[in-house]
Amino acid sequence: MSVIKNVKRVTTHTLYEMKKAGEKIAMLTAYDYSMARIVDAGGIDVILVGDSASNVMAGHETTLPITLDQMIYHASSVVRGVKRAFVVVDLPFGTYQGNSSLALASAIRIMKESGAHGVKLEGGSEVIESVKRILSAGVPVMGHLGLMPQSIYKFGTYTVRAKQEEEADKLLKDAELLTEAGCFSLVLEKIPASLASRVSRHIDIPTIGIGAGADTDGQVLVTHDMMGITSDFHPRFLRRYLQLFEDMQKAVESYVSDVRDCDFPNEKESY
Ligand code: KIV
Repeated sequence: MSVIKNVKRVTTHTLYEMKKAGEKIAMLTAYDYSMARIVDAGGIDVILVGDSASNVMAGHETTLPITLDQMIYHASSVVRGVKRAFVVVDLPFGTYQGNSSLALASAIRIMKESGAHGVKLEGGSEVIESVKRILSAGVPVMGHLGLMPQSIYKFGTYTVRAKQEEEADKLLKDAELLTEAGCFSLVLEKIPASLASRVSRHIDIPTIGIGAGADTDGQVLVTHDMMGITSDFHPRFLRRYLQLFEDMQKAVESYVSDVRDCDFPNEKESY
């Protein structure tokens, strides 16, 4: 860990050491300054500026529409709120697939313009040239296998991936490829727990699971889901720690009635 203003910042090295020591890594998403401050203060190790911002912040049905400029805006807001966590930013759809020069240019824009610490991208052998090119510039890369939401129109559904042997074998090979290329970590999304466990034991870099069972080296959730701000999403892997949609709605209703009843502001709240 490097020391900046008395706070030990999480680095890729910290994450390797955590895996070696069998210490679990906690990762959550954030898309703005205020949420990043809360999540960082709560002791999270890694903050993901996920392209799930496309769904959660912008109300799109998929992650495909979000742009590089929009990701940079979200990421730079998050970076300003973080003192300790390692900040990773998703490369959005269309900014790295099939063109390693474009991938490098996209990653460099994210690093330069947001101040984030690394990037994440989806896929294995199909994107390995892009992964290597980004790594050659000294930018830490996190891989992402299993359910890959940017390929939703190829998969057709958001159901569990790699249940069949052929897909499981490809995932294992892709995990090896990404590790050999030099990725610092790997997200495993919505795959059988037994496969995630096998991958996690097989590779040296930390795996971070979402819907991938308890044996990955860390876990990630979308913060708006675990806080109950999103209310219409109920996958089996999601544990809700708060019911903020209902609580915030009640607060708004109380405010509306206080204003209508001339109860707000009172004398103490006036100048
Ligand atoms: O975009 C995102 O939030 C993600 C996580 C679900 C891993 O990729």
